[in-house]
Amino acid sequence: MAQQQISTPEDLIHYQVRSALTMEQHSLEALDELHAAAKDAKIKKLFSHHADETREQIANLTQVFKELGFDESSAPSPATTGIKNQAAALLEKAEPKLHNQIALMSALGNEHFEIAAYSGLILQATTLGASGAAKLLQENLDQEQHTSEELLSALQEYLA
Ligand SMILES: [Fe+2]
Repeated sequence: MAQQQISTPEDLIHYQVRSALTMEQHSLEALDELHAAAKDAKIKKLFSHHADETREQIANLTQVFKELGFDESSAPSPATTGIKNQAAALLEKAEPKLHNQIALMSALGNEHFEIAAYSGLILQATTLGASGAAKLLQENLDQEQHTSEELLSALQEYLA
């Protein structure tokens, strides 16, 4: 069901959780593409592990809709569409020997966007007194932060 005007903090968080759902769906698609692009077994494993976590995050978002008393639906997430398109364009242009590095850097960019999205959502949910929703969003944020650290150390290791 399409959402009408965004006029209250509740409307705003509803729209942003709907966008977060699309953001995670983009993550799943991107992780699949990056998994295919990466040549290194360890990097591939990192992507498939985070794809599993991303499925849990989508389940958490389904719960967040319930906690907040909203109907579940999705809304556009142009930022993650852009991150995904940028990765695809770069992979197409670059020599295969650079694909591991591009895959890690693209995934890192995606994680940083997700960290920003969840950090804001947690504050908004907390302000609205929705502690159950805030807790679920925090679980997602913790996974994104952990993944971001793993991606960065994999990149450091790969480039060393
Ligand atoms: Fe995620």
